[in-house]
Amino acid sequence: LASSAASDVYKRQVMALLDGKVCVVTGGAGSIGLASAQRFLEEGGKVMLVDLDPSALDAAVQSLNSPHVFAFACDVTDAARVAASFEAIVAKWGKIDVIFSNAGNAGRNARVEEYPEDIFDTTLTIHAKGAFLACKYGLPHMNDGGSIIITSSISGVRGGAGVNMAYVTAKHAQVGVMRVASRSAASRGIRVNSIHPGPVDNAFQTGIEVEMGKMLGINVTEQLNQAVPLKRHASAREIAGAVLYLASDLSTYVTGTVHMVDGGLMS
Ligand SMILES: NC(=O)c1ccc[n+]([C@@H]2O[C@H](COP(=O)([O-])OP(=O)(O)OC[C@H]3O[C@@H](n4cnc5c(N)ncnc54)[C@H](O)[C@@H]3O)[C@@H](O)[C@H]2O)c1
Repeated sequence: LASSAASDVYKRQVMALLDGKVCVVTGGAGSIGLASAQRFLEEGGKVMLVDLDPSALDAAVQSLNSPHVFAFACDVTDAARVAASFEAIVAKWGKIDVIFSNAGNAGRNARVEEYPEDIFDTTLTIHAKGAFLACKYGLPHMNDGGSIIITSSISGVRGGAGVNMAYVTAKHAQVGVMRVASRSAASRGIRVNSIHPGPVDNAFQTGIEVEMGKMLGINVTEQLNQAVPLKRHASAREIAGAVLYLASDLSTYVTGTVHMVDGGLMS
């Protein structure tokens, strides 16, 4: 008996967190998407990367250097292409276990009175409609017990400096998508959560900080490092760690949550 218990422990230690799980990552050619795809592969998952630009996707696939990854070029706001992307992965590997709805743009920093309406519309569409379409067309192809993770932001729980109306509104809207989908999918044991990264040390965030810094006349990067209780930006891999937790069976009783990954900034 003792030796069989010991061998159970051994099996648990060697089993990867996503062994054989079929995963979709949107924004997969970008920083957080690619880091998450890497984590999924390290833990035994199979990954389809979804993003806009085929050559960026090719480079992402090359960098991952795994037989368990392929790419599908798709605008996450285009319903027909989104549906086709899910059909492509099911045709290749069977039903889906994990959808990481992560594609996003930065909107623009501008005072409300000057905020461009076209940027408001596109930003809301990419984040809110993108997450909605991932749920709408993804859920019918998912295994019961699967997991959907939506990348929102600290901008999904507060207004921040209040200079990016479109981004803040879109990131709040994703919480609505997550909450409704989590209720709707719960009967199948499918969990839906949003993650809310604080500032990440990557090109996306640097662009926002430089633009905001010019507008406010301050060094936003330095101010954020001071304001974050952990006193630094996150790496994309640290965000990916939280995504992996929500994707895996470590979080089987976690659904409908707003999961902060912000170094304590919103505490
Ligand atoms: N970087 C940060 O500090 C930070 C903080 C909080 C939240 N986020 C969120 O994390 C997510 C990933 O951002 P990132 O930091 O990796 O930036 P990133 O720019 O490296 O990645 C975003 C990816 O989404 C893709 N994308 C944009 N619009 C798309 C569309 N319509 N269809 C398909 N793909 C599209 C882009 O091509 C890009 O590859 C975004 O939703 C962003 O809002 C980022």
